[in-house]
Amino acid sequence: MNYLKYMSELARRVNRPPYEKQFEDKVSANTLQVNDGLTDSSVFPFLKASFTLLDGSSLTVSPRLMTACLQYGSLDGYKQLKEQVEELTNRFHSPPRMSERDIVVTYGAQQGLSLVCNLLLNPGDYVVVEDACYYMIFPILRRLGARTLSIQCDSQGMEPNLLRKALATVTDGVVKMMYLNPCGTNPTGTCMDETRRRDIYNIACENDFIVLEDDPYYFIQFTEKTPPSFLSLDTEGRVLRVDSFSKILSAGLRVGYVTAPKPLAERLIMSVSDSVLQCTALPQVLLSELLCTWGHEGFMQHVKKVCQLYRARRDATLNAADRHLTGLCEWTIPAGGMFLWIKVLGVTDTWILVMERGLKRDVHFTPGCVFKAKEQQPCPYIRVSYSSATVEHIDKALEILAEIIVEEKQESKTP
Ligand SMILES: Cc1ncc(COP(=O)(O)O)c(C=O)c1O
Repeated sequence: MNYLKYMSELARRVNRPPYEKQFEDKVSANTLQVNDGLTDSSVFPFLKASFTLLDGSSLTVSPRLMTACLQYGSLDGYKQLKEQVEELTNRFHSPPRMSERDIVVTYGAQQGLSLVCNLLLNPGDYVVVEDACYYMIFPILRRLGARTLSIQCDSQGMEPNLLRKALATVTDGVVKMMYLNPCGTNPTGTCMDETRRRDIYNIACENDFIVLEDDPYYFIQFTEKTPPSFLSLDTEGRVLRVDSFSKILSAGLRVGYVTAPKPLAERLIMSVSDSVLQCTALPQVLLSELLCTWGHEGFMQHVKKVCQLYRARRDATLNAADRHLTGLCEWTIPAGGMFLWIKVLGVTDTWILVMERGLKRDVHFTPGCVFKAKEQQPCPYIRVSYSSATVEHIDKALEILAEIIVEEKQESKTP
């Protein structure tokens, strides 16, 4: 593919590969390094570290590793972690022609999304989104002046027929990209099945746009069968996949990664380097050592436990919804992720319900309108998060929700 044509005007202006890349393979251990601005390691304040894991065992960052962490390092991520995430990517996604792709470590999925959008989007470009989608994509799209093409979803996510129809209406610009969060979608909890994924991927190929697959809930799917990711289906090299350790290990470590075709990955690395030089190494080293200690078995046991935890929370949330909201609201069973997407019956917009009545009763849901590309539009949905609240708190929150819905309906009837 000719990737240049997908790049934004701004991204095209930076067209030299980083200087570092040009000497990396020519430098040996014997090279006299008088070229760089590395800090003298004798000023580093930390010698080594030991972290106690939940099971009581410890993980040590040796003096050698600590020195490496505290020094400037690779622009695209700590080498050993990159190898490990590449192994995970191959194991779970078997991407076609992986040798033509590269991985770039980022500060979580969010930075990955921002870097990819910066790389691709010009003002006026269209981006296809699900009609309720992760709201932190919107500030990025707005900053870049992109236009959104919002597609209605059903229980499987974006509807292909509606997508085709919407694409046919675009006559005044380029559809550059589709943004998708296909597993445990935030906020709707849907997991797109294989047939739907194939249909949508084919539409992307026919209409020649890039698919940005944002998949932080990949390991939190409650379905029997895990459908192939868009990256797995990507025979043409048009998928950029964003992964994250936030939802399965820790959000505060801020480690995620983008898998992208090499010509685009190279540009992403340039953007990392011109904004932060490199992502902080210590969290990457910690993660990498953890993955080494666990091995694949240990990693799988961990993600299984994470998935079970959220599945149990989801079930408790559904029970509470049945108890308190039957007749007042409708919802579909989340097939993954951390959220229940609830439609409040007989209410056209949930803003006042959430932002005034709810907060007055000390309960905070998220109003549905924030997940819409056009934020001002009235929206009868609210998002309930079961990610960190206790079962008791969720039960209490939904009990209060029922009360404030009744209150709102009564007051709207009062002349
Ligand atoms: C769909 C989606 N994408 C990206 C992110 C950001 O994740 P990270 O912490 O890896 O930046 C979130 C966080 O909630 C999310 O729900």
